[in-house]
Amino acid sequence: MTACLDRGPDLGTLTELDRAARRILAANWRRHATVPAARLYPHQWSWDSAFIAIGQRHLSPARAQRELEALFGAQWRDGRVPHIVFDPSVPAGAYFPGPSFWRSTAVPGTPGVPTSGIVQPPAHALAVWLTFLAGPATARARGFLPRMYPRLVAWHRYLTTRRDLTGSGLMSVVHPWESGMDNSPTWDEPLSRVVPVPSAEFTRRDLDHAVAAERPTDLDYGRYVRLARDYRDAGYADTAGGHGFTVEDPLCNALLAAGEHALASIAGEVGADPGPHRSAAARLTETLTTNLYDGFFFPRDVHTGRLLRSYTIGGLMPLVVPGLPVAGALVETALGDRFRLGAATPLPSYDLTAPGHTPGDYWRGPGWVNTSWLFWHGLRLHGHEALAGDLRGRLLDRVREAGFREYLDPLTGAGHGADRFSWTAALVLDLIRAR
Ligand code: SER
Repeated sequence: MTACLDRGPDLGTLTELDRAARRILAANWRRHATVPAARLYPHQWSWDSAFIAIGQRHLSPARAQRELEALFGAQWRDGRVPHIVFDPSVPAGAYFPGPSFWRSTAVPGTPGVPTSGIVQPPAHALAVWLTFLAGPATARARGFLPRMYPRLVAWHRYLTTRRDLTGSGLMSVVHPWESGMDNSPTWDEPLSRVVPVPSAEFTRRDLDHAVAAERPTDLDYGRYVRLARDYRDAGYADTAGGHGFTVEDPLCNALLAAGEHALASIAGEVGADPGPHRSAAARLTETLTTNLYDGFFFPRDVHTGRLLRSYTIGGLMPLVVPGLPVAGALVETALGDRFRLGAATPLPSYDLTAPGHTPGDYWRGPGWVNTSWLFWHGLRLHGHEALAGDLRGRLLDRVREAGFREYLDPLTGAGHGADRFSWTAALVLDLIRAR
């Protein structure tokens, strides 16, 4: 751990950092779940809830379980877990695109609560397992795993069947929002083929609460709206060739493989057979490595069949997969000039050496605590304890300096995006408690 940095009295020590993180999670808790940020993201988001539970489990295992149960309570009959579960008590104009855009309740097999119709990276099985481990007695008393297991199985089945749009064995994302890394430069090429909806046809709400230079552009939004609208108008049908944007993404598929390992553990606890999950994990790991690895993990643009060869944080994420055959090479790349593990913290979302690297612009350069947490988790999994310990200390120092920001300049540590951001707080709580 490096020395405490003197950014005022609030966050000077681990105890104070811990207390501040707890306050954020308490303030961002609504009736059933936690909002990612009070104004910018005033509903429940899917992968946010997974990371939030990973921190919340240390404060209240029951609340962490409820967070995940609330999300899966909005699961669709086809198994998909929507990326947003809308809070009906939040004013309609607080977020765009809201319930009137997605029109989920008109779709057969959807829950009563309004949701979006797209998904986000599947970090949930891992989160459920870690949440269970933090409070097995509470979890058993509440029947947490027996309730979550079939829902997680249905979720993974949706992703590995309906979202295997090429027959390769990998899942595809059909919208940049589904990747979690909305405006990543790696999506520029496939997105360039999408005809944007004119910006006069919709009203962004994110810019009421965030700096425009730190968010996707209006042109990006025009394309996001086009893709989401087309998907909605097709009844959210997953058909090969039916989407304007279709990408096999390493981050999502790595989380799916890691999730199958977690499902094997969960199956063992609930008296189900872990075997099929172990086989699925092995299959996903092999296919991920065979199809998306070429010295680094790159997404595949399904429309052209080509790899999208930008160096983004998503390409480092397969380190979360137990037994990944190329883990050593990934760590070497992380230590190189593009990501500068050990100096740039959080790890940059995009290649530091690329001319387009923009350190304050969302997924075009800044570092995010969730992807660094995943990499830290992967370092520990693959026996890189010293590197993991160093990354942990640096992340905690960065948050002490900048506060609980949504993303940070990886070189200067300047904070950007929303403040009092829930997953930053939650993952800090987890890092503080890591041994
Ligand atoms: N991440 C997107 C947003 O900024 C959509 O989930 O709203």
